[in-house]
Amino acid sequence: MFLDKSTNEFGKDVLSGLSNAFQKSTPSKYLYDDTGSELFERITLQPEYYPTRTEIEILDRYASKIVEYIQKEIVLIELGSGSSKKTKFLFNEILKKQNQLYYFPIDISFNFLTSVVSNLENSLSNIIVKGIPYEYIDGINHCNNILFENDIEIKNISRLIIFLGSSIGNFEVDDARNFIKDIRLHITNDDFLLVGFDLIKGISLIESAYNDNKGITSKFNLNLLNRINKELGGNFKIENFSHKAFYNQDKKRIEMHIVSGMDQQVFISSLNKKIDFKKNESIHTENSYKYSPEDIDKLIKRTGFSIEREFFDKNKWYELVLLRPN
Ligand code: AVI
Repeated sequence: MFLDKSTNEFGKDVLSGLSNAFQKSTPSKYLYDDTGSELFERITLQPEYYPTRTEIEILDRYASKIVEYIQKEIVLIELGSGSSKKTKFLFNEILKKQNQLYYFPIDISFNFLTSVVSNLENSLSNIIVKGIPYEYIDGINHCNNILFENDIEIKNISRLIIFLGSSIGNFEVDDARNFIKDIRLHITNDDFLLVGFDLIKGISLIESAYNDNKGITSKFNLNLLNRINKELGGNFKIENFSHKAFYNQDKKRIEMHIVSGMDQQVFISSLNKKIDFKKNESIHTENSYKYSPEDIDKLIKRTGFSIEREFFDKNKWYELVLLRPN
């Protein structure tokens, strides 16, 4: 089986993650192939998955306030843009202030990004959409090049970088801090960062968001095994595994696992690797950290940003934080 560079990296990460005798795991970014990205969009429509509609409630209410903080012409950069659906609230407000808007959605899921960009181009006027199929920081650098090629001087604009959907919660806390620091190194004093955080709340509410009735989250999680079968020549029998998601109170996070229903062995041909599973043994596929406003304060300290303003929904289930370089 021929492996290209990205498949190769996937293979290496699967090999090391599934060889760990203490706890098998895989990086959560591998949940997002084209099928995974589509399934995630379906998750966001499930009644149990409150983060999306709650974030929309905040954007709907406060987009105009957010835009008010920014004096210069705005260039909008969205990290992990997915369907870009929530961004329309910002588009509308920004276009009340300026005639034209450059919008850079950055997403590693190439085919998904391409179809979102072509839909946006057909439905929006006055917005110049440039899809960036890169990892986040490389993507920000690439936007700078495109601005330069289009004779847009960085000193005349403010970049509003948005990281919505509580995707920051999928980073380990130290990695989240380092990521925000890293963004700071690639922007100027006139730029802003808007980040969505899912807040700590009643456990049953959180857990049901990751165990929806229709089983879409389960499909999303188990799709990882399909991906290993397809891309790496694995022979996982999906029906022998199940989805599990629970809130770990000590670590303030949802943990998502794929659990083996029996003692079994799986073979991954491109890695030439046999993997043994005991009954109930799991692959840890994702963490989703939940924050308190105090945790967010602590996280932001020493990142090179200060909190300009916090925006909450009516239940205080979710928070959007506007950060300004200090
Ligand atoms: C993308 N991310 C913020 C989602 C979350 O809630 O952590 C991913 C997800 N995993 C299962 N459901 C949703």
